[in-house]
Amino acid sequence: MKPIRPTAAFVSLDDIAHNLNAFRSLLPAETELMAVVKADAYGHGAVDVARHVLSAGANRLAVAVVDEAIELRRSQIGAPILILGHTAPDMADLVARFGLSAAVMEPDFALALSDAGVRNNRRVKVHLKVDTGMNRLGVRPHEAIGFAEFVNNLPALDLEGVFTHFASADAPDLTAARHQLGRFLNVCEGLASRGLRLVRHAANTAAIISLPESHLDMVRLGIGMYGLYPSRHMAGCLGLRPAMSLRSHISMVKWIDDGERVGYGGTFVAQGPRRIATVPVGYADGYSRQMSNRGRAIVSGTVVPLVGMVCMDQLMLDVTEVDCRPYDEVTLLGSSANAALSADDLADIIGTINYEVTSSLGPRVPRIYMRKNREVAGRSLLGRWD
Ligand SMILES: Cc1ncc(COP(=O)(O)O)c(C=O)c1O
Repeated sequence: MKPIRPTAAFVSLDDIAHNLNAFRSLLPAETELMAVVKADAYGHGAVDVARHVLSAGANRLAVAVVDEAIELRRSQIGAPILILGHTAPDMADLVARFGLSAAVMEPDFALALSDAGVRNNRRVKVHLKVDTGMNRLGVRPHEAIGFAEFVNNLPALDLEGVFTHFASADAPDLTAARHQLGRFLNVCEGLASRGLRLVRHAANTAAIISLPESHLDMVRLGIGMYGLYPSRHMAGCLGLRPAMSLRSHISMVKWIDDGERVGYGGTFVAQGPRRIATVPVGYADGYSRQMSNRGRAIVSGTVVPLVGMVCMDQLMLDVTEVDCRPYDEVTLLGSSANAALSADDLADIIGTINYEVTSSLGPRVPRIYMRKNREVAGRSLLGRWD
């Protein structure tokens, strides 16, 4: 069923394929590409993005948590899926039953997962996570070999891969990332000398771009696939195309008098008569309340200021300077005529990063998938359509 809401995120599948190919061109043919579709594919919609990137040449998928992987399996996606995050032992049965791969970093979980594999009569592929400097998840390098041998001896586990994650591959100074890579390669050599030849992976988007020596056997491509850059100093390279735009329409327009206030708390005070447009998108959709009195949107090809507090379901724009009427389109993210508002622009306004802008978009916002400028599929609270 199609959405009945005017506020929707449009996702260009052509742009996602274009971005994937741009990264593919940096990699040797034998290097695998794992598409990171966690957090609902950074807000773009995990199921549709996963299907599309697999058909466009991604070899595997990665998510953060078990539920995300199960959503993909329930949508008949059979490709290898790695759960990158920490999985607790009580989730082991689900990992085995849904044919998922998990990151392993603790004996309790490895044991539980092997037991689950035995119980379900399935072998479970696991990837050893090594913490080389992020100090978040993973075994410490000096523990890696002992732990790998322990995992490898468990009856139902196949130790397939080993990976690490960079803390600052997006920084202009790559000293720390190179240091992490050195530690990781040491671990990999130690594993290989014990006969454990595993799929080695480390590179995220930033490292794929700036640290070719980290490509190894597989890369994990996230933000770049969606057409966004992990940091400003990389902007423009590879000609990435942002895949998402967020659009709505004007629900009402009205003139207010000098000194009148707008929105909860009356935080915006009109300096002279102002024309105010109301737009049906709010913080419950993932449009940050921190945008209050600071955000921007495009109306009639012109960037206009957001006034007053962002409400749960609505926001207000000052459209005094533009010619517009109810039902005219409002672009909150993306381009319209010659104006553009990028995820980086929005992120800068509220002091965050582009990752947070797209991945904050909530389930109430329908996702509409476009190919060659035509709508080909979608998903809303009412269901999916193709
Ligand atoms: C372990 C891991 N690998 C890969 C990625 C992808 O990173 P990026 O989106 O910067 O490409 C992430 C994302 O945060 C991650 O947590």
